[in-house]
Amino acid sequence: MELESMPQFLENKTILVTGATGFLAKAFVEKILRVQPNVKRLYLLIRASDVASATQRLHNEVIGKDLFRVVREKWGANLDSFISEKIIAVPGDVSYENLGVQDCEQRKDMWKEIDIILNSAATTAFDERYDVALGINTFGALHVSGFARNCVNLKVLLHVSTAYVCGEKKGRILERPFQMGETLNGTSRLDIEAEKEVVEEYLNKLRRLGATDGAITSAMKGLGIKRAKLYGWPNTYVYTKAMGEMLLGRFSENLPLVIIRPTMISSTYIEPFSGWIEGVRTIDGIIAAYGKGKLKCFLGYHETILDIIPADMVVNCMIVAMVACANQSSEIILHVGSSWRNPIKLSSFRNFIRSYFTENPLVGKNGKSIKVGKLMVLNSMASFRAYMVIRYILPLKVFQIANAVIFQYNQDMIIDLKKKIKSGIRLAELYKPYVFFTGRFDDSNTEKLQMVTSESGVDAHLFGFDPKSIHWEDYLLNTHIPGLIKYALKL
Ligand SMILES: NC(=O)c1ccc[n+]([C@@H]2O[C@H](COP(=O)([O-])OP(=O)(O)OC[C@H]3O[C@@H](n4cnc5c(N)ncnc54)[C@H](OP(=O)(O)O)[C@@H]3O)[C@@H](O)[C@H]2O)c1
Repeated sequence: MELESMPQFLENKTILVTGATGFLAKAFVEKILRVQPNVKRLYLLIRASDVASATQRLHNEVIGKDLFRVVREKWGANLDSFISEKIIAVPGDVSYENLGVQDCEQRKDMWKEIDIILNSAATTAFDERYDVALGINTFGALHVSGFARNCVNLKVLLHVSTAYVCGEKKGRILERPFQMGETLNGTSRLDIEAEKEVVEEYLNKLRRLGATDGAITSAMKGLGIKRAKLYGWPNTYVYTKAMGEMLLGRFSENLPLVIIRPTMISSTYIEPFSGWIEGVRTIDGIIAAYGKGKLKCFLGYHETILDIIPADMVVNCMIVAMVACANQSSEIILHVGSSWRNPIKLSSFRNFIRSYFTENPLVGKNGKSIKVGKLMVLNSMASFRAYMVIRYILPLKVFQIANAVIFQYNQDMIIDLKKKIKSGIRLAELYKPYVFFTGRFDDSNTEKLQMVTSESGVDAHLFGFDPKSIHWEDYLLNTHIPGLIKYALKL
């Protein structure tokens, strides 16, 4: 594998990016503009009704964000002309053929000009409606592949998947592509086209029965989880992402295809500055709830390995992979995570977050510091259920009895407790596969890419993605948690 200079490769290239209003692709766009201002053009596919609204979203949700501070400082008063010269916001939607790009002249221009495609668009809710997740994560990938086949100058198609398409596998998990129709539990073959019919039939039935929008949403969410479990995946998100990979593998023959599977993406390690993050996801939900004094325990084994990888490392790996895999005709899968080469245990993570919030407590609405205590780790669903009984269900019973005696006395508390019980159980069920996850992601392909970058000496310092370089305690205490508080919680 030969590697040319990354900025040199990107010079004068045209790149189509989907999902750029989201966390990861936004960081990719920023890096491209910063390291290669002579990129020819970036087409950003943005969900919007027309060009004006897509352009407005580009300015509000991409360029206007803190992340672009360094680019803004560099270009100063010339930023607007730089952006309008380099970026075209295209209204579109990956769940439609041709990515929903209505303007056929623009479509033709794109097919002529595009050298690189990054597909980062996705719905990442674990329990998304099945029809929605199937449309975006599964058929969206197929539509991107169809669009790519029309791009006569395409050098590489990079699709962002997730490491957790492996389901609840244990031990060493290899960077292996899916076979079409493969399931995780050996049940009958998965027919992706037939899944579309399952959705349509169910939707028609619900409509015939006069179901409300709310009832349809809830039924579609239920259907996603049911179909995922039928074939061995724990939730709709990873199941529909896995099917997206299958369709890409089957229908991207002869295209230079890279499927990148990051684990849990955290705040930037170094670039463009450390600690930048958007949104509160996965483990960050635990950090935020604990810091706010709302979390006393969580599920998991002390020995569970959390797989976290900073966003700038994922972006660097994506760019290096684009360069290294350009014009190759085979499919390559890359795990981008830390569990194989620099694991961090749940018990250490817990100690670090406790130490952070003990030293730097958040301030509550009443202006007082929020005290955090010991964070209990419950290592089975049985201990979780026992905890729920003691902390919520018994008090609920007491309030219900009191309520029967003194009418309406504790009505609000009862409603509040019922909500907490329902949401606690729902979250535990959704996160169970991850907090008890005992797999580790082998990243041999990614390591090879890392070695080629180091050996070729070209820009290795600008495009680092070696998880071994992460010092977890320092990163969590001095970068990630402060970044989460500043950029995501905005406290
Ligand atoms: N974040 C993580 O920890 C993580 C970990 C592993 C893998 N991944 C993968 O990385 C990718 C990026 O994730 P992220 O964290 O950046 O997600 P994100 O912040 O939720 O962004 C998702 C992006 O996809 C766009 N999108 C959704 N549906 C679309 C559609 N039908 N057509 C066009 N665009 C659509 C969204 O646009 P709107 O603004 O219009 O909604 C948004 O720009 C995803 O493929 C995800 O599966 C993420």
